[in-house]
Parts: sequence; structure tokens; C-alpha cells
Amino acid sequence: LKLYGKRTNSAGVELGDRKALARLLSGIAKASKSVKAVPLIDGKPSGKTQDVISPVNGATIGSVVFATAEEAAKAVSIARKGFVSWSRTAVETRAKALEKAADLLEGNRDQMLDLLSREAGKTLDDGIAEIREAVDFCRYYAAEARRQFAADKIMPGPTGEDNKLRHRGRGAFVCISPWNFPLAIFLGQVTAALAAGNSVLAKPAEQTPLIAYEAIRILHEAGIPKDALLFVPGDGSVGAALTSHVDIAGVAFTGSTDTAWAINRTLAAKKGPIVPLIAETGGLNAMIVDATALSEQVADDVVMSAFRSAGQRCSALRILYLQEDIADNMLHMIEGAAKELVLGDPALASTDVGPIIDRDQRNMLRDHIEAMRKTQKVRFAGEAPSDGLFFAPHIVELDRADALQREVFGPVLHVVRWKAKDLDKVLDQIASTGYGLTFGLHTRIEATVAKVIDRLDIGNIYVNRNTIGAVVGTQPFGGSGLSGTGPKAGGPSYLTRFALEQVVSVNT
Ligand code: SER
Repeated sequence: LKLYGKRTNSAGVELGDRKALARLLSGIAKASKSVKAVPLIDGKPSGKTQDVISPVNGATIGSVVFATAEEAAKAVSIARKGFVSWSRTAVETRAKALEKAADLLEGNRDQMLDLLSREAGKTLDDGIAEIREAVDFCRYYAAEARRQFAADKIMPGPTGEDNKLRHRGRGAFVCISPWNFPLAIFLGQVTAALAAGNSVLAKPAEQTPLIAYEAIRILHEAGIPKDALLFVPGDGSVGAALTSHVDIAGVAFTGSTDTAWAINRTLAAKKGPIVPLIAETGGLNAMIVDATALSEQVADDVVMSAFRSAGQRCSALRILYLQEDIADNMLHMIEGAAKELVLGDPALASTDVGPIIDRDQRNMLRDHIEAMRKTQKVRFAGEAPSDGLFFAPHIVELDRADALQREVFGPVLHVVRWKAKDLDKVLDQIASTGYGLTFGLHTRIEATVAKVIDRLDIGNIYVNRNTIGAVVGTQPFGGSGLSGTGPKAGGPSYLTRFALEQVVSVNT
């Protein structure tokens, strides 16, 4: 698949091919092992050890030693030193190391799939897609570093001097990533920062340290120096120790809008250089369906967007606006399709929807549905297995769109009906939420497409398809407003935000 430029996206696995599936399952079974994740800083870790529990069945699948605040500070000081040589390493050498990491990741696919399934509850489909995305990030940022940073840019102009623009790393960059893409987003941030010439302090989500640890080991094996890439696992206090450190050069963060605000406040309060925050946060993602849409396609795309990955994607659909003329028919079809979804062990090829990441998230979803039952209409509640942290898909019909004010991170679809004459009001309502991550539109009216694109400041707009699974290099991903700062991950502007621009003017 030649999906961007001359580069090639990572290949998938055809799960419908019985032999390929059998090979895959046996590979995963062989690769499965307990992992002990420790800080990769320097010296013997001294923090507390915590078991890592699978959301699938509550089994202990490994352990993690958290970094202490002192170790986090030590990591920053090592990364500052490591930065000096990594930033002066040729772009080609940096790019080659990332490409080697991509190859090693593909070679370790089965172990990665096992961890994605047991640690993060990913289905086989989702796990395969996630590994492909992680591999694509490595290769894409390697290629982008070559394209943008390998040679100085000659700047034209009237001064009669030699003017050159060059890019270099900023320093020790903090990367803080979420549990919902514990490999792809984790590595996306880290490889972008490295490609731009920074050293990196990588803090994975508290829930998913094991796969992150294995990924860092792969990067080290691929040739990224240990003092240029430090693994700093822990809870929010470790994140705070890193982001408040006077010597850091920037923060890349993906997670909740609340945490992005907190990081912003921390960066504003600290002394030292003024550093960038690259944040990708949540969304109150909407889809508008009008009466001209193809109903079978809508049903498929809605179920995919709202319930795949148990709705635990920042791109997932949260509010569906159905034109009232077709609403009853569409809801009938969507509920029929949702009823067919199989919840269960994500390691089985027959499973469509895996578990919720942890008890807090599952309880939050239960509370949300309870609250909705009091004032709104819960139209559909699927069935979830009684063991494990499962939460079945739900469909809630709202009597007004602003009955939902915040992102509910899970398999809950909210539906609102709208009248044909009220399209402008619907667009105003969507814009008024302040979020701007993904948006879907199903229509066969070209003027509606043009109008909607013009009106909404939303990062990723999908027309007549689902709203998830942005492809690296093809669908650069990221939002605006409450959904993040940009620039887009997997896009041509991402690396430059991690880099320092320097202009050298020589009077010849
Ligand atoms: N990039 C993912 C998607 O497009 C969400 O984080 O679904």
C-alpha cells in the first residue's frame, strides 16, 4: 500500500484467512510472558512496585516500579546531557534508528499484540491496527526529519548575505501519553521528539506501563542512546515532577482536557525557558446524518465510530444528530447492529468489543447511565459478560443536545433529532461546545458538505464514512479548542513544533 509519498504503511493481517489467524494466535501464545517494567534512568530503581492487572480478567500480568520524584529529576539532568550529543547526531543516523525500530516492532508483533490485549484490553483488530500505526509513526517521522531537517534552507532576500534556516532539537522533551493507545500514541510522541533532535523523558499512562517499557527497549536496541531516551513510569505525581522541572524544553501530552490545563498552569508557573506544550485532548465528537444518507452505511459507520474499541478513542462518536424524518428507521438499524456486537475476551478473533480500562472508568460509565436514566431516555443497553471490566454499548436519546456537556469516554452513543430547517442551529450547537476533534457527516448534498466544512473549526472531518482510525501520513490527526493545540500527529507540520528554528546570516 503506497499511502503517502514514496513511503509504505505497515501491512496488516487478514483475520478472515483461517491459516493466517491460526499462525497469529499460536505466535501470540508463544510470545506471551510476564513483564517487569522498571524506570530506565540510571542506577537501581528505588520507587514502589505495583502489580499490573489485566482489565480482561483481573489477572496479574506483570509489575512496574514507579520512578520517584528524585529519579524523575535525575532523568531530566541525564537527558539534558544526552541531548547534547543526540541533537548533533546526523539527521540520517537518527532517521535510520527510527526505521530500525519500526522493523523491530514488526518483528515483535506477537508480543506487542499479547500485551495490547492483556494490558489494554485491545481486540485483535485494534491491536493489529495499533502496531501498524506505531510502525508508521516511526517511518513517517524518520522520512519527515530527512525531508525537513537534513539540509539547511537557503532563505532568499535582499540583504546580500547568506541566510540559512536550520532546525535543531530544543532539549529534554517530556512525553506523557494515555492508556487508550499505549503503543501508538506513546511511540508517536517519543519518535517525533527524537526525530527532531530532542532527548526524551517518556512517561506512559499509569495503567499501561508494560508495553511502553518493551517499546522503549526496542528503541534502545535500534540505536537510540540511553541518555537520549529515558523511561520514567509513574502516576500523576511523576508527570508533575517532570513538567515542573526548570530544565525541560517542552511537553507533548495526550489525555484529558483537565490535565492539559493543569500542565499549562505548571508550565506558566515555573521559572526557566518558556517552553511549548503540544496537547491532544478530548472531544465531544458529533455526526450529522440527513435524510439523503445511505442508511446501511450510516448504521455501519455509527456502530464502528461509537462502539469499536469500547468507545475508548478520543476520535469516537459521542453525539449523533439524526434528521427526524429518518430517525426512527436509523435507530432501529443502529440498535439492531449494536445488538450483534460480541463482547468478551479481546484475544479471541470473534470478539468485537473488549473491556473498559479500569474500575474507575467503568464506574464513571455506570454513573453516567444512571444519571441519564433520570432525565433522558436510555433506548438501548447491550449485554456485558459478568466477569471482567466490561461495559455494554448503550444508546441514549437526548431531548436537547446540551443535555450532554462533557466527553463520556466509553461505548455510550447519545442521539438527538433535528429538523431539516434547523441545520444552522445544529452547527451552532456543535461549535458552542468548544471541542473540535472529529466530526462526521452523512449526506449526499454537496452544498451541505461545503457549508458544514466552512462552519466548523474541527480538526478531522469525515464525510460518508466512520470517524475513527486516522492513517499516519494520510489523515494527520488532532483537534482545536478544548481538543488540543495542534499541530497534527502524523502530519507534515508536527516535527517542526518539536524543533528549534535557527537562522544564520553570514555577511560574505
Ligand atoms: N488517532 C485515533 C483515531 O483516529 C484516535 O486517537 O481513531
